[in-house]
Amino acid sequence: MSVDVSKTGAKIDRNIFGQFAEHLGHGVYEGIWVGPDSTIPNTRGIRNDVVAALKAIKVPNVRWPGGCFADEYHWRKGIGPTDKRVVSLNPNWGGVTEPNAFGTHEFMDFLDQIGSQAYVSVNVGSGTPQEAAEWLEYMTTAQPTTLAKERAANGHPQPYKVASLGIGNESWDCGGNMTPDYYLSQMKIYSRFVRNFNPAQQDKDQMLKIAVGPGGDEPRWTDWTEAIMKAYRQHTWSWDINGLSMHSYTVGHWPPSFAATGFGETEYSQILKFTLAMEDLISTHSAIMDKYDPQKKVALVVDEWGAWYAPSLGTNPGFLVQQNSQRDAILAALNLNIFARHADRVRGANIAQMINVLQSMIMTDKEKMVLTPTYYVFKMYVPFQDATFVPVSFDAGTYTHGDIKLPRLDAIAAKDKAGKLWLAITNLDPDQPVEIAASLTVITAKSAVGETLTAPKVDSVNTFDAPNTVVPKPVSAKAQNGKLALKLEPKSVTVVSVEQ
Ligand code: AHR
Repeated sequence: MSVDVSKTGAKIDRNIFGQFAEHLGHGVYEGIWVGPDSTIPNTRGIRNDVVAALKAIKVPNVRWPGGCFADEYHWRKGIGPTDKRVVSLNPNWGGVTEPNAFGTHEFMDFLDQIGSQAYVSVNVGSGTPQEAAEWLEYMTTAQPTTLAKERAANGHPQPYKVASLGIGNESWDCGGNMTPDYYLSQMKIYSRFVRNFNPAQQDKDQMLKIAVGPGGDEPRWTDWTEAIMKAYRQHTWSWDINGLSMHSYTVGHWPPSFAATGFGETEYSQILKFTLAMEDLISTHSAIMDKYDPQKKVALVVDEWGAWYAPSLGTNPGFLVQQNSQRDAILAALNLNIFARHADRVRGANIAQMINVLQSMIMTDKEKMVLTPTYYVFKMYVPFQDATFVPVSFDAGTYTHGDIKLPRLDAIAAKDKAGKLWLAITNLDPDQPVEIAASLTVITAKSAVGETLTAPKVDSVNTFDAPNTVVPKPVSAKAQNGKLALKLEPKSVTVVSVEQ
C-alpha cells in the first residue's frame, strides 16, 4: 500500500455520515421518544442513553420525518400541547396509530441534544406547496409573523435552522407515483415557494434543496437523473436545487429475504458483492450529473442506503426490524469508502435507519439499549468527517468464495484539519488475516494507533444480554524499513492514525 500525502483530493463532507429517522416501527417512538413521564431516563421525553450514544458518533444531520411517511405527514398535527395533538394513522408502516407526540419541536430538541442538524423532508405527495412553505416559515423566520409567534408560544422564540430540505421522497413510488415531468413541475413550485427565512441562512447555499433522484440500477433511473439534471441546467432565478437524492439498498432480491443472522459465508459474500454495486451506481449517476453540472454545484445525496433483510421473526413486518452483524459492519465501511472516493460529488448520505429499523446504529427494548457493529464503524470513522481525501493505492488481492470473487482489501486515507493522516482499511476475507506494508510519501511514519472491529463469526451480533461481542479493540503498528507494518484480522474494519 502506498499513500502520497502530497496529493490531496476533495473534502469528505461530514454529511456522508448522516442518519435517517422515520416514523416507522420503533425508530422514533421508543427509540428516541419515550415521553417525559417515562421511567426510562429522559430529557424532555428524549431518552438519555440514546442521546449519549449518538453524541459519540457526531451525527452531522438527521433526515426526518420520512421516507414514505414524509409524503403523508402534516406538520400541524405535531405542534402544540402534546395532550391535544391529533392521533392519526401510519398506513405505510404497520397501519399503527401515530400519536404525533414527536413533532417539529421535539425533533429540533433532539437535534440540539445530540449536536446535529435538521434535514427535513417536506410532503409533496399528499401535501401542498402552501403547507410546506408555512412549515418553513414556522420553523425559520425571525420576523414577528403569526407563525413565528405561534412557534414562540410553543416554546421556541428563536428561529430554527434547517440545513437541508428534501423536496418529496421517492416521488416515483410511495411519494405519489409521479413521472419525471410531473415531479419536475411539482419540484419547481416547491423550490420556488418553500423558503428558508432564517437570517443566518440567507446565502442560498446555506440550505441544501434536495430533489428526488434515482432509486436503483434499472434504465428508468438514468432517465430520471437525466430529466432532473437537464432541467437543472435550464433553471432560472426563480427555482434552484443544490442536491439530488439517490436511494440504494443492499437487498439482493425483492422482497428482502436474506436473513440478518444465522447465515454463513455464502450469504456473507453474496451481500458484500451486492453492496459493492454502489460504486457503479454512483459513477453512472455522477457521469450524468457531470454532463449538466460540470462544476459539481449539485451534491449527490445518498439519503437512503444500507442493508435490508427479512424482518426478525416475531416482529411486525411493517416495522422493518432486523439484527445487525459483523457483515453489516464490513458493508458499512465499504459504502463509506465508496462515498469518500466520490467526495467531490457525494456530499451527503443517510444510512437507513438510525434506531431499531433496518441497518440501525442502536437497538432498544424498553429500558435496554445495545450498540450495533454498524454503530462502531460510524464511531471509528469520526476522524474522516470533513477530512481531506488522500489517494491511496494498494494491491487489493482477491477473496474468492464459490463463484464470487471480491477484492480482499479496501482502504481509504484522509488528512484531518490538524494535518494528521488517517487510514481506514477493511479486510473482507472472513478467514485469512492480511499483512500490509504501507509506504508513505512526504511524511516519515513512526507508528500507527487506532482500533479494529472484528468478530468471532461473520454473523456475530450484539444483543441486550451480550452487548460486547462485536466491539472495537485497540490496535497499533510500528514502522519497519520506512513502511508501516499492519496486520489486519479476518473480516475486520481498522482505522488508525499515523504518528510521525
Ligand atoms: O427506509 C424504509 C423506506 O424505504 C422508506 O420509507 C422509503 O423511502 C424507502 O422505500
